[in-house]
Amino acid sequence: MLRFLTAGESHGPALTAVIEGLPAGLPLTEEDINLQLRRRQMGYGRSGRQKIERDKVAVSSGLAHGLTTGGPLALRIENRDWANWKAKEMPPLTVPRPGHADLAGALKYGFDDMRLVLERASARETAARVAVGAVARRLLKEFDIRVGSYVFEIGGVVAEIPDLPYDELWTHAEASDVRCPDPASAEAMRRRISEARRAKDSLGGVFVVVATGVPPGLGSHVHWDRRLDARLAHAVMSIQAIKGVEIGPAFENARRMGTQVHDEIFMENGRLIRRTNRAGGFEGGITNGQPLVMRAAMKPIPTTVTPLRSVDLATGEPATTQYQRSDVCAVPAAAVVGEAMVSWVLADALLAKLGGDSLAEMKAHWKVWRRHA
Ligand SMILES: Cc1cc2nc3c(=O)[nH]c(=O)nc-3n(C[C@H](O)[C@H](O)[C@H](O)COP(=O)(O)O)c2cc1C
Repeated sequence: MLRFLTAGESHGPALTAVIEGLPAGLPLTEEDINLQLRRRQMGYGRSGRQKIERDKVAVSSGLAHGLTTGGPLALRIENRDWANWKAKEMPPLTVPRPGHADLAGALKYGFDDMRLVLERASARETAARVAVGAVARRLLKEFDIRVGSYVFEIGGVVAEIPDLPYDELWTHAEASDVRCPDPASAEAMRRRISEARRAKDSLGGVFVVVATGVPPGLGSHVHWDRRLDARLAHAVMSIQAIKGVEIGPAFENARRMGTQVHDEIFMENGRLIRRTNRAGGFEGGITNGQPLVMRAAMKPIPTTVTPLRSVDLATGEPATTQYQRSDVCAVPAAAVVGEAMVSWVLADALLAKLGGDSLAEMKAHWKVWRRHA
């Protein structure tokens, strides 16, 4: 139903995104998007690039008088760093960084200069995704569906997550520069990042994305590509450096007996309820009305100050990597990108379920559907 494309290089003039398939009549402001862009730029352990960029969107089509028109929505985010780069004569990059896209991209496209790969592979592209996700989030808000995140683990420091409602966890996470809702764990994570910086190294970690207010019945069991849990896994796994995803505590569940895992069903005051959510909000690839809970594992940032062994492709001789300005840890930012991708997939599934060319039509269908779901 919904589609988007992004374009742009890390140090090119701008990032662009085009969204197609939005209903008409959705209230949207540039500030709705800028708020999310600011959230992506935060986080302890980021590189100096975040001090240069002040990401702001310009919407150049698809919006009139503060409402979507149903036409394609075009978004543009300027790269302030472009001004610093355009005059520079950059030497070709011929020593691929292990863990980055340099070598695989150069082999695929036949490049001698791997800058042509890294400029597009770079996670600067995630700014465009967060902008797109902000629009999806605005649609979800109309149906009281909320998406938030927190960081669970950084470089082996595992957070003690307080037993609080999700919206409180999000509020605490939002106040933390490592997006961790527990202050003591956040402090330990910050120390770990500082240690890694001093050791001239980098870190990864694990974040959790949660969506609340998700109605039962999004997605379907009938075909592999309509299973919504699988589509979410694809979307979150498509984020740079994300190498594992989990719906609910999937790996922990795998070690337990069935009777300890499956969420039993009760009838209370005429309503079907669950007292646990070990399924993470999905059964049969369909949302079951419980909060959607997803975790994602991010590998350590591939660019390290400490050189790694590689080969100079220009000479075929052994060489070591050259440091390029880089984050030490970007798990808090990746969590915000995770929210964007989850919002996108949920908005698409909601539109598929409700149909309609305008928000008013979607809402009318929602009213009828929610009478029995
Ligand atoms: C928010 C975010 C920021 C990132 N920052 C950097 C960075 O500063 N330096 C770097 O080498 N990789 C960074 N990465 C990871 C690389 O973009 C990624 O590892 C690379 O594109 C190769 O893709 P792959 O890890 O998915 O195979 C970042 C990823 C995310 C999600």
